[in-house]
Amino acid sequence: MHNKLSPYQPTLRPSNSRALVPVRELHAGHRGSILRHFLQLNADDRHLRFGTQTPDEVIERYVDGLDFSHDTIFGIFDSQLNIVGLAHLAYLPSFKSNARAAEFGVSVLPEGRGKGFGTALLGRAAVHARNTRVETLFVHCLANNKAMMRLAKKAGMSVEFAYGDADAYLKLPPANPSTIVEEAANVQWADFDYALKENLKRSNDAWSWFLGKSFITR
Ligand SMILES: CC(C)(COP(=O)(O)OP(=O)(O)OC[C@H]1O[C@@H](n2cnc3c(N)ncnc32)[C@H](O)[C@@H]1OP(=O)(O)O)[C@@H](O)C(=O)NCCC(=O)NCCS
Repeated sequence: MHNKLSPYQPTLRPSNSRALVPVRELHAGHRGSILRHFLQLNADDRHLRFGTQTPDEVIERYVDGLDFSHDTIFGIFDSQLNIVGLAHLAYLPSFKSNARAAEFGVSVLPEGRGKGFGTALLGRAAVHARNTRVETLFVHCLANNKAMMRLAKKAGMSVEFAYGDADAYLKLPPANPSTIVEEAANVQWADFDYALKENLKRSNDAWSWFLGKSFITR
């Protein structure tokens, strides 16, 4: 299987015409926002994301079961701090002789698509995976998922097809000083972006409250 893997190509960043997308690592306090993100996906998108029909209750159980101490979840926030793009990097159990591996799953809300968010999430997850000694990154998706196929191929992943499903693999080289610095810079940029949006949202909310109140008392 490994001899089919293509070497990692550093093509995972959004194209130069797009601004660097701030991708933030999420924690258990984001569970509610994560659930809201998934519930906004329509039936077709849920099918593409999870590979099967996924009713709300199944998504609720999936979100309840997310283990933030084991896996890493990344998010991209809009100006209202809603999660517009979400990625789950799930570490697979490693056996004695097997190299460390992780599976990547991703979803971007329809209004956020085509802006490089999926690419940014894959790039961020791949760097984090390298920095946590993962050697192989897997993506499992439906073979007719053209957008995901495009993302995978752009990232230099090898894709294998079977029974309507596609498995993509990316062989990752070990971490080096530049991947560590890249991740640290991304963390800072995403924290800054979040803090900025949080402050703007607070002041907008305060103005809305104030204007609403002064309108009512007139
Ligand atoms: C797959 C998904 C995450 C992509 O998100 P995104 O933010 O639109 O991704 P990007 O903007 O970074 O890039 C998408 C790429 O796919 C291409 N693309 C989109 N739809 C396409 C289609 N129907 N056919 C071919 N390419 C397509 C875009 O042109 C773009 O390529 P480019 O950068 O060379 O122009 C998003 O479509 C999604 O959430 N789909 C539903 C869930 C899903 O399928 N998850 C993947 C399985 S885990």
